Amino acid sequence: MTNPRVKQLFEAAPAILPSLLQCDFGNLEREVRRLEDDGCQGLHLDVMDGVFVPNISYGMPIVDAIRKLTDLPLDVHLMIQDPGKYAQAFSDAGADLLTFHVEAVDEIAPVIDNVRSLNMGTGLVLNPGTAIDAVTPFLDQIDVVLVMSVDAGFGGQAFNPVAIDKLKALRAIKPDLILEIDGGVNLETIGSCREAGADLFVVGSAIFRSSDYAAALERLRAEVQRHDPHSS
Ligand code: DX5
Ligand code: ZN
Repeated sequence: MTNPRVKQLFEAAPAILPSLLQCDFGNLEREVRRLEDDGCQGLHLDVMDGVFVPNISYGMPIVDAIRKLTDLPLDVHLMIQDPGKYAQAFSDAGADLLTFHVEAVDEIAPVIDNVRSLNMGTGLVLNPGTAIDAVTPFLDQIDVVLVMSVDAGFGGQAFNPVAIDKLKALRAIKPDLILEIDGGVNLETIGSCREAGADLFVVGSAIFRSSDYAAALERLRAEVQRHDPHSS
């Protein structure tokens, strides 16, 4: 991986990535600054098109605005139809890691090649109903598998434990693969995600519904550490 910010993000693992979906967009700079001050090592940006998922969030202009506010690695989660068509635009907007859903494309390999050629980290995403077989043929061509523990589309949904089995299975197949988990990750669920092998933890509600982000992040980090599979 030659993208320096992606390298930096992977070296920070295990790391919590705030999902900005529920942040205060009227005060974006203040939100980003707060997360930086609270020691976050990357930001997770959810792009939804109202076609692949039944919700619309934001696109390139917000990624670009956040890029101008911070040097933190930007992890852009595309929940859109035809992600390859927009890879260049998200690269131009400042994405470092670009993940797209296997359910959204017919031919996965050319989209991976496209994202890689733009020097972004590349990740495949699996909704809860999609088996890991959809990504296993590509594990040597990608940097991350993002396992969804809710159906992509909305923040604030309940964690689906099917994700735990997928994390364990992927970890067993490729011990050095970076595994990311997204959806319903909170104080109750984050420990089992860490035990199952997750490296990057996307968290929305459990940070942004709290008035004290720093305290919420500290509690989540402590829980990750308590469940570290590498410590006895
Ligand atoms: C859901 C998004 C998530 C979402 C997570 O489609 O991919 O990143 O913001 O939010 P919580 O942590 O509330 O499930
Ligand atoms: Zn996401």
